[in-house]
Amino acid sequence: MSTQSPHLIRKKVIAGNWKMNKTAAEGVALAQEIVEAVGRETLVDVVLCPPFTALASVGHELEGQSVKLGAQNMHPQKNGAFTGEISAEMLRTLYVTHVILGHSERRQYFAETDAFINQKVLAALASELRPILCVGETLAEREAGRTLDVVRAQTTAALAGVKPEQITTVIVAYEPVWAIGTGKVATSEQAQEVHAFIRELLTSLYGAALAQKVRILYGGSMKPSNATELLGQKDIDGGLIGGAALEARSFVELVKAAMAAA
Ligand code: 13P
Repeated sequence: MSTQSPHLIRKKVIAGNWKMNKTAAEGVALAQEIVEAVGRETLVDVVLCPPFTALASVGHELEGQSVKLGAQNMHPQKNGAFTGEISAEMLRTLYVTHVILGHSERRQYFAETDAFINQKVLAALASELRPILCVGETLAEREAGRTLDVVRAQTTAALAGVKPEQITTVIVAYEPVWAIGTGKVATSEQAQEVHAFIRELLTSLYGAALAQKVRILYGGSMKPSNATELLGQKDIDGGLIGGAALEARSFVELVKAAMAAA
């Protein structure tokens, strides 16, 4: 196993999940502010994930910059009668490089199963999109002491059929459901425990050398006031940010916190 510091082998990622917020025009304005502050940042991977309707115009703002474009969802099929859905190819033509898959809001409100999320992960990889695979337990599951079981089951199922040569393309995001949009952030110990567990799981599936290269992000009420502490943990390689990604100021501060932790 490498003796290099994890900070050296894994570039940190700060990804903004805008969820169902921002019209195309509002998205452009936000992207412009972010680009002005950290557009050429290369020490940290910065990813903006606007809604589908703002992908093209935000993508245009990111041309020639280091900031990358992500989508929030994708259908696993290439094309066909799937009203309201978007394929990997459609995303690729908009210069999308990342796609959030299996977000807890998709699991909860749109009944997405582990098997369906697995199909999406495989389809994204086949189209050379980087999946940002979300996993995490609900409050009831945590209180029942099932956190690690839930995270193990979700991660293993979503990665079924992902080949060793593909695994470092995947970014995992640990998002405890009880911390999303609630202001209740996981303590750095709680988060690190699950991140280390995910890395052990990846080690058992793919071996240590590959597992050490996979970025594992934390998501759930991450903001400038708690980011430094979270990003300082050994297995926390960045953040998937909801609320604090909707304003340039807080998002840019998070990018800077990740630069300082890099
Ligand atoms: P908040 O940062 O608003 O808690 O959202 C986290 C999240 O769900 C990112 O995908």
